[in-house]
Amino acid sequence: MIGRLNHVAIAVPDLEAAAAQYENTLGAVVRPPQDEPDHGVTVVFIELPNTKIELLYPLGEDSPIKGFLEKNPAGGIHHLCYEVEDIRAASARLSAEGARVLGDGEPKIGAHGKPVLFLHPKDFNGCLIELEQV
Ligand code: CO
Repeated sequence: MIGRLNHVAIAVPDLEAAAAQYENTLGAVVRPPQDEPDHGVTVVFIELPNTKIELLYPLGEDSPIKGFLEKNPAGGIHHLCYEVEDIRAASARLSAEGARVLGDGEPKIGAHGKPVLFLHPKDFNGCLIELEQV
């Protein structure tokens, strides 16, 4: 059911420094920051030949990244995003298999303007998983 790895998301304590490190030290193609108020994050996408890295920084007081950075002050891997062809079919299959879909189970529009869902990390070896319909 899952397809390509769409991106790896890393929560960072200093977005500017992290973006500069990927651009200058690692020599990657780094896109400008974009605010995602619906998700409580500012993101910087890094384009790699086979996938993307998504740097996440808290936006607003209720940001879901805030607590993560309090627990992981140096930053850390926040989630993995896998591509699926049909997000509603994926959601139905996962629920039937006993995996917990976060929120109300309805796909939201994600940072790339496409429908996304998140799966409970406790059901996936401690790893928060995002599914994105492509
Ligand atoms: Co993501």
